[in-house]
Amino acid sequence: MAHTTPDRNLALELVRVTEAAALSAARLVGRGDKEAADQAAVDGMRHVLETVSMDGVVVIGEGEKDEAPMLYNGEHVGDGSAPAVDIAVDPLEGTTLCAKGMPSAIAVIAISPRGTMFDPGPCVYMEKLAGGSDIADVLDLDKPIGEVCGLIAGRRNVDIGDVTVVVLDRPRHQEGITAIREAGARVRLISDGDVSAALLAASIRSPVDLLWGVGGTPEGVISAAAIKAFGGGLVGRLWPRDDSERQAALDAGYDLDRQLTQDDLVRGDDCFFSATGVTDGDMLQGVRYEGRGIASTESIVMRSRSGTVRRVSARHNREKLRAMIGGRYG
Ligand code: FBP
Repeated sequence: MAHTTPDRNLALELVRVTEAAALSAARLVGRGDKEAADQAAVDGMRHVLETVSMDGVVVIGEGEKDEAPMLYNGEHVGDGSAPAVDIAVDPLEGTTLCAKGMPSAIAVIAISPRGTMFDPGPCVYMEKLAGGSDIADVLDLDKPIGEVCGLIAGRRNVDIGDVTVVVLDRPRHQEGITAIREAGARVRLISDGDVSAALLAASIRSPVDLLWGVGGTPEGVISAAAIKAFGGGLVGRLWPRDDSERQAALDAGYDLDRQLTQDDLVRGDDCFFSATGVTDGDMLQGVRYEGRGIASTESIVMRSRSGTVRRVSARHNREKLRAMIGGRYG
């Protein structure tokens, strides 16, 4: 392999972007207003994102332009200079978690070279399996979920009763939850937030072994970028909600039978990922406030090409930030 000189690591700039989103949303933790929290996160993220030197196009954003005035799909962000990149943002992943003051809300962004990110088109949901690199080859959506749990137990040389699967608590998962339990494995139900759950499942010495279930396709693409950098495996299959969505997907040329891996969802090997905790979770500590106008954040930033994973603890002086840029961070 040809050696190259270390070049710019965009993830180190993206951490400021997710910190800004998290600090903005954090003022609304527990306030019961998920739209306001999301809007604050979008505003905070947008504000810093436009200072980053890049020619970015939002592939995974807040939705259609008319409904989402900022960070909409197709929007150009950055200062327009090289590199040309695709961007996936979820300024507040877990809007309800934030509004209710519950664990594991995060601010997240992923970036990859232009044209390499999967565009979900009309496909809102995807069935996903995610776990660590040692079990990546057993992740198969065509196998019954109970069988996958058994394979994981075998691979890890543990009793199946030691295998824990994290699942979004939704009625659509009832059959799968029953199958996991009947196989003898455990289920950890979460109310929201399958990006941090995918990362947790991919982590070594994690309390969960596997993420399974149907969640957002955008979250699937973002999780894929994270797993490419972090290590682990993810497979996803588009999951139309009804016949009209199925038809729209087929008309647009999507293959609904195909299992997409992290390398299909984000192609190539130079993607960047940053996430900052909004509320405390297993992966990241949330925004904390200390006296004298200080806030602290914890982020995880990574790059797939080098495989470097950094945890960034930051201390923010809210008074100085307010003086510099107004009340955005509260
Ligand atoms: P929001 O941050 O948009 O509220 O999404 C949270 C989330 O739980 C995702 O983590 C997950 O992929 C998706 O919603 C599941 O969708 P649904 O709530 O419709 O089942």
